[in-house]
This record gives sequence, C-alpha cells and structure tokens, in this order.
Amino acid sequence: MSTQSAVPIATRVDAVTNPVPPTLLTSGKELAAFRRALLRWYDQNRRNLPWRKNQDPYRIWLSEIMLQQTRVGAVLDHYRIFLEQFPNVRALAAASEDAVLAAWSGLGYYRRARMLHRCAKEIVQQHSGDFPQQAKDLQTLPGIGRYTSAAIASIAFAQPVAVVDGNVERVLQRFIDVNLTSPQIWKQAQALLFSSRPGDFNQAMMELGAMVCVPREPRCLVCPVRKWCATAQSSKAASRAVTSAIRMERRASSPGKMPAPLTMCQIKRELWCMMNQRNGDIRLVLRSKKVALMPGMWELPQSSEPPRPWPTVAHWRTFRHSVTITDYTVHVLLNMPLVNAPLAHQGKWIAIERIPQIPITGLTRKILRAGGII
Ligand code: ADE
Repeated sequence: MSTQSAVPIATRVDAVTNPVPPTLLTSGKELAAFRRALLRWYDQNRRNLPWRKNQDPYRIWLSEIMLQQTRVGAVLDHYRIFLEQFPNVRALAAASEDAVLAAWSGLGYYRRARMLHRCAKEIVQQHSGDFPQQAKDLQTLPGIGRYTSAAIASIAFAQPVAVVDGNVERVLQRFIDVNLTSPQIWKQAQALLFSSRPGDFNQAMMELGAMVCVPREPRCLVCPVRKWCATAQSSKAASRAVTSAIRMERRASSPGKMPAPLTMCQIKRELWCMMNQRNGDIRLVLRSKKVALMPGMWELPQSSEPPRPWPTVAHWRTFRHSVTITDYTVHVLLNMPLVNAPLAHQGKWIAIERIPQIPITGLTRKILRAGGII
C-alpha cells in the first residue's frame, strides 16, 4: 500500500463485498497527517518494554504469546527469566516440556506454553531454525494465528500487515463510531497502516488503546488523533472527554493511581489449600494431564470445602488469586494431620530443592513464595 492515499480510506477497500464505513480522513493528506501524528506520539510516549529493544523474531514472538490474555506488568519478569533460560529458538526446541512449563509457571493459560514449545520444534525441524517472514507462512505454525503472525511479520520483518487485538479494535470502533464487523475492522486497520514503519505503526495503535483510548474513560484530551476520531468529535463524546479530563486531574493529584481495568463478570470461589512439610519435602499433587486447566502441573493438595473439623491454629494465611474469570479466596492450612484432612496427604512428598525443575501452578508458586519456601 502506498503511504499516501488520494481517496477516502473506506472507498479503497473492497467496498462492494464488505464496505467499511468512512472515517473522517477524507484525503490522502489527512491520512498522512494522521499517521505522522500517531507515530510522533508513539516515538515520544511509548513504554520502554524489553521486546521493543530489537527486532529478533524469537523475542517478538515470545512477547506476543506471553501478552495474550496477560498484562504487561505480569509478563515482564517471566519474559526476562524465560529468555535467560531459553535464549533462542533452538534452546527452546531442545528443552523438555516440563522445563518449558516450569518457566511458564505463573503466567497461566498453559496451552500457550505447549504450543510455543511445539512451534519452536517445528521452526528448527522444518525451517532450519529461521522464522518465516510472511504472515501467511507464519500462520501455518502451531499457536500462531492471524494476530500473532501479523505482529511478528510487521515488527520483526517490516512486512506491511496490520494487527488487530482488543485495543486496536476498540480504537477503530471509536474512530469510526459505527459498529464494525470483524472483517471491516481488519480492513480498516490495513487501510490505515503506514507501510514504511508497519511494526511501529501497529504497536502505536495497540499502545494508544492501552494508554489513551482505554475502555472506560478514554483520555480524549491527550489523544494525538482525536482530530480525526468520530467519537471524540461527537458532542456526546465531548462532554465525556471533559468529565474524563476532570477525573484525570484529580487522579494526577494522587499519583500512581491508574483507572481500574474493565472487569468482566467475575465468579467468586473459596479454596482450601494444605501445606504439609517434612524434612525438606513438601506434599504436592500432580494434576491430571487430561484436565483443561493447567494439565500436568504440580500443586498443593486443595479442596473447595474446608476440612471438617479443622483446628483454627492450622490456618496460616488467606490469599486472593484469579484464574481467568474466577476470583478465589484461598485459605492455606499448615501441617494438617491425616485424621483431620486425609486430603492434605494426597499426592507425593517432593524435595523442595526440586521445585524449580518441575511445573507448578501459579497459585502454588504464590503460596510457596509467601512462605519463603522457594
Ligand atoms: N500488545 C501486545 N503486543 C504489543 C506490542 N508489541 N505493543 C503494544 N501492545 C501490545
């Protein structure tokens, strides 16, 4: 695609079969100004994230997989440690699945780690260790769909393919202020893309959604592209923007407070975990390989019911822990005797020094860390 366009964007893209409603960008000049404004903002405001330091496709791929369904803040430490352990695709392909799952432990959605491992093997075995550069070829690999292939192709190989994630989708819906279908969103993203800097442009769109065009109170007053945004220009949005600006100012006087993230309908559950220790060993249970959530991972013996009766002295601490849409209140009981809680004696004694080499669930890691055990 050329970097300038002489006609409104929507009319350039497959207008007959899948018309995209028009944007406020009515000329090629406007489109160029939009791209410049977005990229200038990105260059000046982007977060200093480790995967933005180079264009190594392995590092970019890893970051994109980790960032799926996981917040940036939760990914940073895992990303660094994972790369120390598996610095390139060959090291990852040569690792055991248990080692990969152990390094992934705490990030959740472990299917991603298994697919990552399978994908690394396939890249080594079928592509001599080199990532394909085209999005369509990347999509033939395990765990790489349309979004991830576009992210790798554009960021690592400067291919002119647009990405659409949840942030970009929200930005575009607001930008056009008409309910768009998924194909329309992808088309619009592609039409806006600046093909001279596709990786930066894509990341700028995602960054805009993450930092400015946020779900609940978009910060329209500081948006670099508000001039072309149909929602920001509409009168109802104008009043929303003012409210938002006032709130932002209030927030600025209490620094460090970010707006609460948009939460889906969360389910609340209680969980009882038993932590039994003996001479440098701890009791852990291996989850079945067949369960959907965290198969083949080790965890503390647990139950959704409290053991009855249980001595209150056994209660050590209560944790909050979320897995997908479930918020758990987790009560940890220490060294429960067999008579009170046969459940606590499920599983096996595992030497604590072995724990770094086995995959444990995020909750178990959290508890063992809090107890100074690992
Ligand atoms: N979300 C996922 N990948 C991202 C990236 N590279 N930049 C900004 N947000 C992202």
